[in-house]
Amino acid sequence: MKLLFTKVLVFISLSLVPSISVGSGRAVVPDRDPVTYISPFQEENLNCFKCHGQEKYEYTNELLGTQVKAIMCLEHIIKSEDFYASNHRSFSCTDCHSEDYSIFPHSGELRMELKYTCLDCHGGDDTFSSFSFEGIDADYRESVHFKLENDGFSCWKCHDPHTYRISIRESKNLKETILYNNNICLHCHSDYSRFHLLTDRDEVNLMKTHDWLPDQASHFRSIRCIECHTRINDSILVAHQVLSKDQAVKLCNECHSRNSMLMVSLYKFHSKEQRRDGFLNGIILNESYVIGANRNSYLGNASMLIFGIVILMILIHIIFRIKRNKLKEG
Ligand code: HEC
Ligand code: HEC
Ligand code: HEC
Ligand code: HEC
Ligand code: HEC
Ligand code: HEC
Ligand code: HEC
Repeated sequence: MKLLFTKVLVFISLSLVPSISVGSGRAVVPDRDPVTYISPFQEENLNCFKCHGQEKYEYTNELLGTQVKAIMCLEHIIKSEDFYASNHRSFSCTDCHSEDYSIFPHSGELRMELKYTCLDCHGGDDTFSSFSFEGIDADYRESVHFKLENDGFSCWKCHDPHTYRISIRESKNLKETILYNNNICLHCHSDYSRFHLLTDRDEVNLMKTHDWLPDQASHFRSIRCIECHTRINDSILVAHQVLSKDQAVKLCNECHSRNSMLMVSLYKFHSKEQRRDGFLNGIILNESYVIGANRNSYLGNASMLIFGIVILMILIHIIFRIKRNKLKEG
């Protein structure tokens, strides 16, 4: 019995551990600590980081024999600490880019190089099945952004190839995760030069379009943009079907109610694992604005205790009855 019990426990705890991906022959469990992580391509990547790692770079003008210093444009700067904290930290730059980039000035044709898509590497790969790349791809194809593909939109626009790292899946700090997530959207929706690379539409002032929401700043710190702007899909952790503005959530009680939609979106992952220990209660439970996770563990424990006492009393009662009956018989 005890053995069975421990087995069940082990099974449950194993099934809670997020499966760790094995990449095509790379480190099985990549070190997730950016401070201690050492890439097998550290040296090699320095050849690129020496120019792309900061604002200033240098090269020799071989015709004049002079040393030239110049400014690297912002869009071409990759901070090495961000790269080595990203999902693809075990890569060398030239895994995704042509080897010819080691030559400077870069040949003009290299601009035309074909870029991999996520599905080129992740499609049909069982090691990543927990992420359901195919499901995400299907939802993305239904999203408002997909029609911008001809203008250059792609998964990479939200998942920066050099800095993207999974967040909600391993979130220890929900507020940080929300900030990380919302910055992905604000990268374009608060920077019109990026926005206008993709559309001729007029600038949209986000503060104005959301002015119906009270305490906007506080809401944007407590929920992700995708909470209101995507269709929830039960089979994937992060919904990817961004809907048009007229389909966005506007009703307060979609969230501010006992069966809040947030339980199947923002709190989905935590609701399984961390609801019990009160991790969430601190963040989402504000007495006057119940969001739905209103499960107090003390109350829960107290009711278990009462239940236990009742069972015990019934048992004692039965034992006394049996004894009395035996006494009567004897
Ligand atoms: C001597 C400095 C220098 C080095 C070293 C260097 N780059 Fe660059 N790179 C630049 C500059 C400057 C630009 C922007 C102008 C241009 O496109 O040539 C650039 C542009 C790029 C671009 C963007 C091209 C586009 O589409 O516009 C890519 C990709 C790139 N570099 C990759 C690399 C990789 C990978 C390495 C290492 C193998 C590398 N670079 C090494 C200076 C450098
Ligand atoms: C996982 C694949 C991958 C790796 C690894 C990678 N890149 Fe890129 N890189 C891309 C893609 C894809 C783009 C085009 C992004 C887009 O279209 O928005 C890109 C774009 C660039 C650009 C153009 C500016 C930009 O951000 O759009 C530069 C510069 C660049 N990469 C340099 C590097 C350097 C330096 C490294 C190594 C530290 C590196 N890349 C590693 C996939 C990668
Ligand atoms: C050139 C192939 C390639 C491309 C393109 C690529 N990936 Fe990956 N990706 C990998 C490999 C290999 C790993 C495993 C890395 C490791 O174990 O160090 C990985 C890891 C991941 C992980 C898991 C990280 C973790 O810590 O468990 C996610 C999520 C991910 N990639 C998302 C994406 C997304 C989103 C895109 C497109 C925007 C993309 N990848 C494009 C090859 C690729
Ligand atoms: C409009 C922006 C946007 C686009 C486009 C987008 N994503 Fe995402 N994606 C996100 C956000 C935001 C997250 C949440 C990041 C986090 O917290 O880990 C995410 C998370 C993910 C994850 C991790 C989910 C998990 O279970 O941990 C994968 C895998 C992924 N996206 C793949 C893709 C692929 C493949 C595409 C293209 C078909 C794509 N994404 C396009 C915004 C986008
Ligand atoms: C690379 C830039 C970029 C990123 C990143 C991006 N968007 Fe967009 N988004 C656009 C552009 C451009 C449009 C306008 C499309 C058009 O012309 O109709 C748009 C349209 C939208 C619309 C439709 C508005 C309407 O009029 O119906 C919504 C909603 C939206 N985005 C939400 C998001 C969310 C949420 C995220 C983050 C998960 C995000 N976007 C990330 C560029 C971006
Ligand atoms: C509480 C729900 C909610 C949140 C959170 C939210 N939105 Fe919205 N958003 C809406 C609604 C509802 C509309 C439609 C407003 C209208 O048309 O009156 C809208 C409109 C938009 C539009 C279309 C604007 C236009 O007029 O074309 C964009 C783009 C957008 N939101 C992006 C974002 C981004 C980016 C974030 C995160 C920083 C975000 N939203 C957070 C509910 C939300
Ligand atoms: C997408 C979900 C969502 C929607 C829609 C939403 N809220 Fe909220 N709201 C939240 C969350 C999450 C918090 C943060 C709760 C906390 O920190 O305790 C919050 C906090 C608040 C607060 C407290 C703000 C503070 O500073 O503590 C008020 C007031 C509020 N919401 C009112 C509204 C009203 C009115 C509407 C409709 C117009 C609305 N909310 C729509 C999720 C939502």
